[in-house]
Amino acid sequence: MKKENFYITTPIYYVNDKPHIGHAYTTILADVLARYHRLINVPTWFLTGTDEHGQKVQRAAEAAGMSPKQQADETVVRFRELWQKLEITNDDFIRTTEPRHQEVVRKILQDLYDRDEIYRAEFEGWYCVTCERFYTEKDLVDGNCPEPGCGRPVERITEPNYFFRMSKYQQWLIDYIEANPKFIQPDFRRNETLGFLRKELTDLCISRPKSRMGWGIELPFDADFVTYVWFDALVNYISAAGYLSDDDRFNSLWPASYHLIGKDILTTHTVYWPTMLKAMNVPMPETIFAHGWWLIGRDKMSKTAGNVVNPMEFVDKHGVDPFRYFLITEMSLGQDASFTEEAFIRRYNTDLANDLGNMLSRVTKLIGSYFDGKIPAPQEEGEAEAKLRDTTLKAAEELVASVDRMRPDQGLNGMAAVVREANRYMEVRQPWTLAKSDDTRADAGMVLYYAAEALRIVSGMLYPVMPGKMTELRRALGLPDGDPVFADLHEWGRLEPGTPIQKMKILFPRIQVPKVKEAAPEEEKAKPKQKEAPVGIVQIEYADFAKLSLRTARVLEAEKVEGADKLLRLQIDLGDEQRQIVAGIALHYEPDALVGMNIVVVANLKPACIRKIESNGMLLAATSGDQLRLITVDGDMPLGSSVG
Ligand code: MSP
Repeated sequence: MKKENFYITTPIYYVNDKPHIGHAYTTILADVLARYHRLINVPTWFLTGTDEHGQKVQRAAEAAGMSPKQQADETVVRFRELWQKLEITNDDFIRTTEPRHQEVVRKILQDLYDRDEIYRAEFEGWYCVTCERFYTEKDLVDGNCPEPGCGRPVERITEPNYFFRMSKYQQWLIDYIEANPKFIQPDFRRNETLGFLRKELTDLCISRPKSRMGWGIELPFDADFVTYVWFDALVNYISAAGYLSDDDRFNSLWPASYHLIGKDILTTHTVYWPTMLKAMNVPMPETIFAHGWWLIGRDKMSKTAGNVVNPMEFVDKHGVDPFRYFLITEMSLGQDASFTEEAFIRRYNTDLANDLGNMLSRVTKLIGSYFDGKIPAPQEEGEAEAKLRDTTLKAAEELVASVDRMRPDQGLNGMAAVVREANRYMEVRQPWTLAKSDDTRADAGMVLYYAAEALRIVSGMLYPVMPGKMTELRRALGLPDGDPVFADLHEWGRLEPGTPIQKMKILFPRIQVPKVKEAAPEEEKAKPKQKEAPVGIVQIEYADFAKLSLRTARVLEAEKVEGADKLLRLQIDLGDEQRQIVAGIALHYEPDALVGMNIVVVANLKPACIRKIESNGMLLAATSGDQLRLITVDGDMPLGSSVG
């Protein structure tokens, strides 16, 4: 991320239908990269937009009984609304029907025609309506469209048309790609393009007769034709940047740092676009990066399969920041990834609700209870503190590096590991115990200062991914709103002792997962041979054990029972209900340490009254002599899961 300026683009999306999760993904990815660059103070320009001409849009308009322009005007609103909802910070939004774009396309066409880079000829070929491209016989795969992910039947068409002399740039392009390894990324996509270029490159048909398809930009040198699709759409990357209209702006923005694309439009971006730019004498973009596809489970997303995920609805249900976080952490850039609501909930509950959110609640609650709601002062650090500091600062550096190498998922997973580490640090140092005594209160302050520092850095580093939630988190720590200062995220100790923290509600409320009914244990069916019981052990039948309902639960609140040294009153969450239980563990656990713990309870114990307080169940703990430790659940399981 060390560059004078950063110019990033998304594909411009067709307006034949409302946006889906694939569109949302590329745009969120571009947004996250743009925000990281802004965070490190690199002047950034982020462009997205819509591709509004062509047969697809014309057909959608016909089906909806409106003009193509109306179709575009209505659908573009869906995209704009979605970008707003997803907190996308694009600096520009280009529509190919805007005059500022059309004029540039026409100027380019005229110039190329004047210089004989474009010529007229009779054309016969195989045409894919969906990809809006002609193919030669050789290109076809089993007689169908060869574009990865398409494969649809093609139509035979003969007509006069205009052609761009793309073939003459074939060798130049091969040499350029070979000399510039960063030009097409990831590497295997570069090889894919080089593979494509091993076949003879044909000239590119760039027009359609108006008689067949009128919805496009009229050729400046022949009013019977329009140009559209690639010779129109690709130009958006430079028309929006001021090419042929504002030289100063264009020179300050171009070349683009990244054209982000899905793997479906690799050839157009890595073969058509570079040769077009070469013919125009415009420098090449730095990197064309093709990411993989989101599959729904294991299947391709398609209307026919009825599995298209509507990002608007998903975000209404689960919130924008967790959605952004999931998409960026879950996809290794370049590869396909699988989208399911279950996977989303799993990651949300683990990384955000259990780890990050819980850590924040603990830290702010303890600072509230024992330090008057003000950031405590650090002391001289011990080994555990030094370790947490180093791990956090290293992970912050690694996140920057991971963005640089286009693997933000790795950096973000590193941040999740820091949060886990910080939670472990709290478990080991037990600030809730240290804070009890005057002698050790300063140590508790130290632990909480370090935990809060880790949260400060984590929240700053996650800010580009979850701007809303991280602003809330930072507010809770008494930090100012607005973009974090990047240099502060690489320095330990920026939290000012004495700063008041803010009370806050739960940052990431846990999502309850519907329970799956468990099958009867195999052992019961297998009927093992009876064995003698070891002396002193009373054996029971399985049926006796089966009477027990052991279930997982989460501690929501814990407090001492007045006048009873050993008792704590707990409010617990069993997924489908909340209960109160009274437990004799006060000599072993501070109430604050219990909040957020996932424990195991006997759920079908008859209610009892202990010291006039109703107790609905019993928690399980291991005891030995005067030691006691609670049975907890390792990993993320739906609340109320049965144990046995
Ligand atoms: N209009 C052309 C692009 C012109 S760019 C000069 C186009 N539009 S599109 O509406 O079909 O959008 C394609 C892009 O949407 C893909 O390149 C990709 O960025 C995104 N996605 C569409 N489906 C996707 C998935 N299933 N998964 C991830 N992203 C995908 O092609």
